[in-house]
Amino acid sequence: GRPPGLGIVLAGADPASEIYVRNKLASASAAGCRADLHRLDASASVADALAVVARLNDDDAVDGILVQSPLPKAMGHDAEQRVFDTVRPDKDVDGFHPENVGKLVQKRAALVACTPSGVMQLLAREGITLAGRHAVVIGRSDIVGKPMALLLLHADATVTVCHSRTPDVAAMAREADIVVAAVGRAGYLTPAFVKPGATVIDVGINRVTDRSLAEALFGEGHPRRRQFAEKGSVVVGDVHPDVDAVAGALTPVPGGVGPLTIAMLLHNTVVAAEQRTR
Ligand code: GUN
Repeated sequence: GRPPGLGIVLAGADPASEIYVRNKLASASAAGCRADLHRLDASASVADALAVVARLNDDDAVDGILVQSPLPKAMGHDAEQRVFDTVRPDKDVDGFHPENVGKLVQKRAALVACTPSGVMQLLAREGITLAGRHAVVIGRSDIVGKPMALLLLHADATVTVCHSRTPDVAAMAREADIVVAAVGRAGYLTPAFVKPGATVIDVGINRVTDRSLAEALFGEGHPRRRQFAEKGSVVVGDVHPDVDAVAGALTPVPGGVGPLTIAMLLHNTVVAAEQRTR
């Protein structure tokens, strides 16, 4: 009798977050959801953020709540944890609440973090076998790396998680049938990290404004180099363009994992709405 409702909280004016939130709102509206943006100043306190979340928790027209990360630094180092902990677990469309994370660990989650579940959809719909294969996840964040590793494990892959203290990430990654790069560094994953024919998933979204880096990534005459010349920046993933020649399959940036993240947010919003009206 009513559309699923999504409440998005955006604190501050992080340029990347502005773009992500704009895309989330537009996609939710286009899919027939009710989507509202709740803005807070960069100078807002954690108490302000908690108050907005409490209001959305109690609002019956809101099925899903998303607090865009990162929160402003001024809110303090534990702000995100406190705010995510306050979101009602049945409205937690990001899957960041400890109750939903715990259920994910036990393979019984209804609401799973959007980016990793988008990657799983991408792999499934491309017919990429996971059972019995070796997946290497590079990055151990709560938003991507950790839930990604759990989902791949639940799909019967053998999973290795690499991070900043792993001595030789390239050697580890070269053993993998599936590599997921979620490190947040433009062009980090070079061909030296990739076994020929491996599936490579690029989770990174990095805006490059440094000319020499852009030119190192994209050779003379490459269309992306022209794009840099026109706009002064270019968006690139964590995967170096040269990996294209080595990988069996590779997700593009932009246009790969990003749109799937939003699709899974809408999926979670519908799941939350159905769960609450049942
Ligand atoms: N910032 C980057 N990715 C995400 C995400 O999936 N959810 C939220 N809330 N913030 C993010």
